Amino acid sequence: MSDQNLSTLLHEMTLDEKIAQLTQLATPFFKGASDQGQITGPMAELGITEDVVQNSGSVLGASGAKVTKNIQQAHLKENRLGIPLLFMSDIIHGYKTIFPVPLAIGCSWDLDLAEQSAAIAAKEAAVSGVHVTFSPMVDLVRDPRWGRVMESTGEDPFLNSEFARAFVRGYQGDDLSNDHVRVAACVKHFAAYGAAEGGRDYNTVDMSERQLREYYLPAYKAALDEGCEMVMTAFNILDGIPATGNKKLMRDLLRDEWNFDGVLISDWGAVKELIPHGVAADEKEAAHQAFSAGVDIEMMTPCYVHNGKALIEENILDEALVDEAVLRILELKQKLGLFDNPYRGADEELEKEIVFSSSHRHAARELAAKSSVLLKNDGILPLKKEQNVALIGPFAEHDDLLGPWSWKGSKEDAVKISVGLLEKIGSAQLSVTKGSDVKTTSQAQIDEAMEAAENADVIVLALGEHSEMSGEAGSRADIRLPQAQLDLIKALKSLEKPMVAVLFNGRPLDLHGVVDQTNAVLEAWYPGSEAGSAVADLLYGDSNPSGRLTMSFPYSIGQVPVYYNHYNTGRPKDAPDAQVRYVSQYLDIPNEPLFPFGFGLSYTTFSYSDVTLSDNVLKEDEPITLTVDVTNTGEMKGEEVVQLYVRDVAGEVVRPMKELKGFEKVSLEPGETKQVTFTLNEEQLRYYHSDLSFKSDTGEFIAYIGPNSRDVSAHPFKLEK
Ligand code: BGC
Repeated sequence: MSDQNLSTLLHEMTLDEKIAQLTQLATPFFKGASDQGQITGPMAELGITEDVVQNSGSVLGASGAKVTKNIQQAHLKENRLGIPLLFMSDIIHGYKTIFPVPLAIGCSWDLDLAEQSAAIAAKEAAVSGVHVTFSPMVDLVRDPRWGRVMESTGEDPFLNSEFARAFVRGYQGDDLSNDHVRVAACVKHFAAYGAAEGGRDYNTVDMSERQLREYYLPAYKAALDEGCEMVMTAFNILDGIPATGNKKLMRDLLRDEWNFDGVLISDWGAVKELIPHGVAADEKEAAHQAFSAGVDIEMMTPCYVHNGKALIEENILDEALVDEAVLRILELKQKLGLFDNPYRGADEELEKEIVFSSSHRHAARELAAKSSVLLKNDGILPLKKEQNVALIGPFAEHDDLLGPWSWKGSKEDAVKISVGLLEKIGSAQLSVTKGSDVKTTSQAQIDEAMEAAENADVIVLALGEHSEMSGEAGSRADIRLPQAQLDLIKALKSLEKPMVAVLFNGRPLDLHGVVDQTNAVLEAWYPGSEAGSAVADLLYGDSNPSGRLTMSFPYSIGQVPVYYNHYNTGRPKDAPDAQVRYVSQYLDIPNEPLFPFGFGLSYTTFSYSDVTLSDNVLKEDEPITLTVDVTNTGEMKGEEVVQLYVRDVAGEVVRPMKELKGFEKVSLEPGETKQVTFTLNEEQLRYYHSDLSFKSDTGEFIAYIGPNSRDVSAHPFKLEK
């Protein structure tokens, strides 16, 4: 359908039809859905009429070729103008083939594999009839109490932006009309949802515009620069106004300044939540505010359909705004090819062939191995095949390995840790006991574990958080492992056997009671469908750990938020002339996190030498290069993430102690040296000044190169203009 025809279609639509087009409802509302009619609880109270369902524009959560075709067919029969539905779903880290959670994918520092994971998710979703995924989530995160940190790639704006682009490329590719392969992406949650106070989900966000622009906005912008089709609003307020009704954010910034002309959708129920937020007295005001802010689709509340018409008839709202919103949705449908083929992509045969195929599972195994981070190793890892192993812990045989936001993945299909280990060693060498549930244990369970451990050469502990303990509405104030598991470790420690802890969790944890009690710690996150195989590959050295943290692991909860790109303060603790007391510090714990951003070990070792700057003066049109020789000084092939940070020594406003400006993941054979080259130009030194202008300042800078944000060498240079 041409653009001309889209406006003709728009003009044929009645006002009711237009407003219904702007409402998104969950699958059970629709005829043809297998769970049609199962509208209970808050859904039942929405007051949605048949008429609205027949004219609504999009469906939330439907998938499966047969189901989506049925729904579309039933809809087209009843929709007066034959406008097809858009199917949108949360495909966050895989459709049926589940990849590690996004925080883990971040830790891979591997943009190609991240893109590949999104492309595989897109393929599986597309043949299952999905048109749009509510991904990527690119909220910058600094507070591990917030359960949704598992959905983000971490605490750094530059790295998050690179991943945002990679995910969008993976989902959308170059051509959205490629119907069996691509889905449209929706970047979320705009904006700054990750900065919820106290790490409590949905809580207040308040920050300066400078902070917002410098840290929180870049990743959303990067996704849009990559062509991301949609944006989702955040639940939080920003500067006193909920994002979903925030004109400054949505109209002035997103639409006018960034020129975003795609579809903006509210988060689930967020339009009506303007009432409890306390900025709208009723649904009508809520609808008015969200409409005026430019929210095109209202997800799962009825403020638009109940009030849109009245708002226009009473001249409170300009119908042109409604037309604009409808047109944007029709345009997206057109881009996806739905007017030509409303059943776009959905194909039962291809679904059988592609979804959860062995090549997809292979990719998931590879990414899971590359996402795990080795936090400690006194030499016990890799394990030797002749050792007898006692696998102990709640995750030894648990199938809770996919993590939150993996709706379509089936836990039963995930490779359990015990099964992964059995791929490596014979059953006679492996004993498997729980020792503890996730949150509780008993003396009998501990006794059984102790007995199993007595006969083993090494204890492998499979510990962690239940997936319900992170994700949406999964905030925790105490981010240690549950006491039951700490008790289990303590009991086993008395046997004085080597112990390896493998962790399955959705956030950086306070690892006291784990790191100090064990010989090795492998942070496996939620590794996804191939969990057991990937973990076994790592434990036995068939894969060499190459993941590096993208979110700091705090020393203890009292430090939170703790992140690498912090400011110095006027009384830094480590200044050469620092006083003992009157410095910025805690009296009882260090300032530094337990494991810093960028950190991760390998089974081999790397050395850095010969850092050379092409010039120690950088000029506006003359970038400098920094080269470093990285050598694998150990005996196993391995990958190192070489990291470049920069500090602007004296800015117009305070600047972070370090900012990531470049990284490269290099693979090195034992004894091999590779030269890594980074380029730094003036643009990379720009930042937001007090008047919000984005520019650089001449003067002194320090470049830091190293394996993580802590262990770096410093190389001064100057910017001259
Ligand atoms: C979440 C979104 C998600 C939406 C639709 C909300 O509760 O915040 O991230 O996309 O639900 O499922």
